[in-house]
Amino acid sequence: MICLGNICRSPLAQAILESKVDSEEVMVDSAGTSNYHVGYLPDERSIRIGKKFNLDLSAQRGRQFEIADFDEFDQIYVMDHENYSDVISLARNEEEKAKISMILNKVFIDENRDVPDPYFGEGEEGFLNVYKLLDTACDRIANELS
Ligand code: 4NP
Repeated sequence: MICLGNICRSPLAQAILESKVDSEEVMVDSAGTSNYHVGYLPDERSIRIGKKFNLDLSAQRGRQFEIADFDEFDQIYVMDHENYSDVISLARNEEEKAKISMILNKVFIDENRDVPDPYFGEGEEGFLNVYKLLDTACDRIANELS
């Protein structure tokens, strides 16, 4: 699960998908394309919305996406267009490029919609919207994996 800062959207996406899959079968992780928040806890607004839905984000720490992640993971879900171009520019071959997709294409097929970035100025409402979008997308992903 990839976003820009790895403190708002992708930590929530990670926790949501983790709650829907068997951890012995599926490894879920998240990262940011930037290094802005490496080592930091998720944004308190994401922690709070997670808590509301019984998800604990407090063990997560920000990290930056790295090329080795292409070796480690089969699927790479990005939150928006900018993340998509940043990650695809790091791919070393077509196989790695094919691992990357816009997460909301699981819900709005082929529409290439962004998960709105809630970092600047968004209150509870914006984070709740992000949660709902990601929860629906992760339901689809979990169903496909099972
Ligand atoms: P995220 O949100 O990509 O969903 O984690 C953001 C977090 C931090 C910044 C931007 C977006 N920032 O500019 O610091």
